[in-house]
Amino acid sequence: MKSFILFLSLLTLQCLRATSRTCHVDDETGLLEFKRGITHDPSGILASWKPGTDCCTWAGITCLYNDRVTAVWVQGQPDKPDGFLSGTISPSLAKLRSLDGLYLTDLRNITGQFPVWLYGLSNLTYVYLQNVPLSGRLPTDIGKLGAQLRYFFLQRNRFTGPIPGSISEIAGLREFSLAGNFITGKLPIGIRSLKNLTLLWLQDNQLSKPIPEVFSSLKLRYLNLSGNKFSGKIPNSISSLSSTLAYLELAHNSLSGQIPSFLGNFQKLDTLDLSHNNLTGPVPKTFSNLTKIFNLDLSHNSLSDPFPAMNVRGIESLDLSYNNFHLGKIPNWVTLSPIIYSLKLVKCGIKINLTNWKPKEAYFYDFIDLSENQISGSPIPLLNRTDYLISFRAAGNRVSFDLGKLSIVGTMKDLELSRNSIFGGVPSSVSGLQSLDLSRNRLCGRLPATKFPASSFVGNNCLCGSPLLPCK
Ligand SMILES: *[C@@H]1O[C@H](CO)[C@@H](O)[C@H](O)[C@H]1NC(C)=O
Ligand SMILES: *[C@@H]1O[C@H](CO)[C@@H](O)[C@H](O)[C@H]1NC(C)=O
Ligand SMILES: *[C@@H]1O[C@H](CO)[C@@H](O)[C@H](O)[C@H]1NC(C)=O
Ligand SMILES: *[C@@H]1O[C@H](CO)[C@@H](O)[C@H](O)[C@H]1NC(C)=O
Ligand SMILES: *[C@@H]1O[C@H](CO)[C@@H](O)[C@H](O)[C@H]1NC(C)=O
Ligand SMILES: *[C@@H]1O[C@H](CO)[C@@H](O)[C@H](O)[C@H]1NC(C)=O
Ligand SMILES: *[C@@H]1O[C@H](CO)[C@@H](O)[C@H](O)[C@H]1NC(C)=O
Ligand SMILES: *[C@@H]1O[C@H](CO)[C@@H](O)[C@H](O)[C@H]1NC(C)=O
Repeated sequence: MKSFILFLSLLTLQCLRATSRTCHVDDETGLLEFKRGITHDPSGILASWKPGTDCCTWAGITCLYNDRVTAVWVQGQPDKPDGFLSGTISPSLAKLRSLDGLYLTDLRNITGQFPVWLYGLSNLTYVYLQNVPLSGRLPTDIGKLGAQLRYFFLQRNRFTGPIPGSISEIAGLREFSLAGNFITGKLPIGIRSLKNLTLLWLQDNQLSKPIPEVFSSLKLRYLNLSGNKFSGKIPNSISSLSSTLAYLELAHNSLSGQIPSFLGNFQKLDTLDLSHNNLTGPVPKTFSNLTKIFNLDLSHNSLSDPFPAMNVRGIESLDLSYNNFHLGKIPNWVTLSPIIYSLKLVKCGIKINLTNWKPKEAYFYDFIDLSENQISGSPIPLLNRTDYLISFRAAGNRVSFDLGKLSIVGTMKDLELSRNSIFGGVPSSVSGLQSLDLSRNRLCGRLPATKFPASSFVGNNCLCGSPLLPCK
């Protein structure tokens, strides 16, 4: 009987040993050398990485295939002042032969270049090196990372120089981001052979020259090239993405020419941002077919009338400001949207009486900017229906109402009504705002105590008190 119990406990011990994984010695060495490269870890991100303990139990380490480390997650805490690491990334991580994912994000104070020692790791599928921040040029032989790499994110580092052409050798790439670096040069033509690519984020770099015709055989869902120096026309080959593309963002470039009419046939398009370019001509009639678009930003171009009648049911955010539009009124597809939260129609030739504008749903509104139009009437009925408005702007119109009767919702931060015909006194409730411009109206009376400068109030009939002249 005794021996049977002994046998049983031996058996359980054996089982325990087989299921609990102890880290492979190479992996432990590689990780401890990585830790030695870190000179400063004020919040103890790597505190559990201790020699002689099982590295599979350390914070951020995953082991599969028995004793081998397959994933390393080291994440700073961007919202905590001491949630960062200083030092360098040791090439010793190359000892982790079974690594399939390396996730180093928001470390904030790491120096070094692109880790070329990743090249030999034959199972490497996920590489997330975000806000580490690494610097220097990307190596020309970056294609040696291998065709097994699928997700490659290098956002918010300080990489310079061009995107190496050998990127095309990473044939299995699905998602690739270099957003927020200092990348220069052209978009490499080799991108066109990345047939499995669904996400390409290159926003906020310094890429230039026309966008090449690389999209013909791709199936992208997300394309973001905003915030670069691209010039020339929107390339025709983007038309091949009509059945897949959901996000197209080309804002803040120097693109010129007309908006291509094929964009109206993109059935899945959710977000289209072409703002801050040099696009001309009318918006294509085909846009009436964009029934599922939620976010449309065409602001800061030189687009002209007529604006097509859209058939979208629920626009969420719309910005058509600073073009050559003469819309006359706020379009019905805007007024009828049940989910709209942001409307910006600055300088759009709108001539309505605001008292009578009755949007179907005003509840979700956060931002309304109707500045530089010929709008008359009062915003009070509208503002009385918005519970969460953050910003209301209608500067440079013919708005006329008694400001003393306006109740300002608690969420409101920004109120801009300069250059109108607003009368009455300034209510003390404006003191809770972060920015205010009531200059050049017909306001009168003693100002309440606020933090705003005189420029918020100048050019009125008879306002007085600090920061203007004392009342008589
Ligand atoms: C960042 O690292 C450098 C060099 O390693 C060091 O001099 C500096 O103090 C670090 N910054 C912070 C905020 O710790
Ligand atoms: C790579 O992953 C496969 C399973 O997908 C595994 O069988 C193989 O051992 C791994 N290679 C290495 C070097 O660990
Ligand atoms: C592309 O994806 C398909 C489907 O997932 C896969 O069969 C194919 O091997 C991938 N191509 C490359 C080059 O990895
Ligand atoms: C695209 O890039 C712009 C510019 O940085 C950014 O504001 C926007 O959120 C990005 N879009 C997506 C879907 O990430
Ligand atoms: C847009 O075009 C105008 C003239 O057509 C030019 O002066 C301006 O520099 C261009 N802007 C950009 C951002 O390319
Ligand atoms: C909208 O799409 C339909 C079906 O694809 C097409 O017949 C129609 O011409 C399109 N309308 C416009 C204005 O392009
Ligand atoms: C705007 O409409 C209101 C309500 O119908 C009306 O009282 C007011 O006179 C109108 N204002 C102008 C400038 O037409
Ligand atoms: C705001 O709406 C409430 C009820 O919805 C109403 O009682 C009130 O008079 C309105 N205020 C103004 C200034 O229109």
